[in-house]
Amino acid sequence: MLRTDLSRGKTVIFGRFFLQMTHCTKTIALLMLIMAAAMRISQSAEDPGKKEWTVWSDGCPVYATTQLDTETTPLAALSKGDVIEGIKYFRNADYIEWIAFRHEGQIAYAPFAWLTHVPDSNKAEGDLPIGGEIVDRWNSLPDTYEPGDLVSLPASYCYTQNEFRLRREAWEALKVMLDDARADGCKIWVASAYRSYSWQSGKFLQKVEKEGLGQRVSAKPGHSEHQLGVTVDLVGPDPKLALEQEFGETKEGQWIETHCGRYGFRLTYTEDNETETGYIAEPWHLRYLGKPMEE
Ligand code: DAL
Ligand code: ZN
Repeated sequence: MLRTDLSRGKTVIFGRFFLQMTHCTKTIALLMLIMAAAMRISQSAEDPGKKEWTVWSDGCPVYATTQLDTETTPLAALSKGDVIEGIKYFRNADYIEWIAFRHEGQIAYAPFAWLTHVPDSNKAEGDLPIGGEIVDRWNSLPDTYEPGDLVSLPASYCYTQNEFRLRREAWEALKVMLDDARADGCKIWVASAYRSYSWQSGKFLQKVEKEGLGQRVSAKPGHSEHQLGVTVDLVGPDPKLALEQEFGETKEGQWIETHCGRYGFRLTYTEDNETETGYIAEPWHLRYLGKPMEE
């Protein structure tokens, strides 16, 4: 209400002011308004590929085309640590993603799967502030990042014999959540927690080898929320539904979806944000953001 009145007041004042201006001043004011609007449009339309990208693994192929078939040969191969100046990001219908850049006087294309970018906010010393970390398809953690406050989870909360670790605060919140779920008749275990850069690297390469560059399940190393130490994959009693879409329909999956916000957790990958995140929905993948959310 207040906002409406205020903005109407401002409009009236601006209208009177505008009528009192000379013709020349009006023209200048209109031109300035048009330029400001044009700048806003061009800023919002900034291409996400238009920045520096670093090659994270040796042998990144560079192509003259993005229409790959068995006959397509690369123009060159980039090495780990090489940096390219991206011009444009796009993806094909088969979900293979590309960054266009200038290579030896022509436009060439590198698969997005080989490229990474660490924002300055992730280069800070020490543990990143929980809830403020920027890790997604576009933004990576440094390969050396490992939180200093990781704690081992008790075996009774874990699905396998593997040792799982989380940042202390995330584990304390998760323990309360899993105990409450159990009190409501839902048995839920941790199937994955903190994952190092090198672990994720192996997983990602395996997935690409098996399903190709268009896979939408495994994040590139540095780009996985699991490296933050605040993210878990959860499973219920039916092993056949572990890390399967159907888990979301089970009693346990439904409990998580309804109640996780109360404990500071969010489902990061949902059917609603598949296009935005680039990953398929994962009703088992929860990230701790610290601030409880209303149900
Ligand atoms: N499956 C999610 C995207 C990951 O690899 O972190
Ligand atoms: Zn996960």
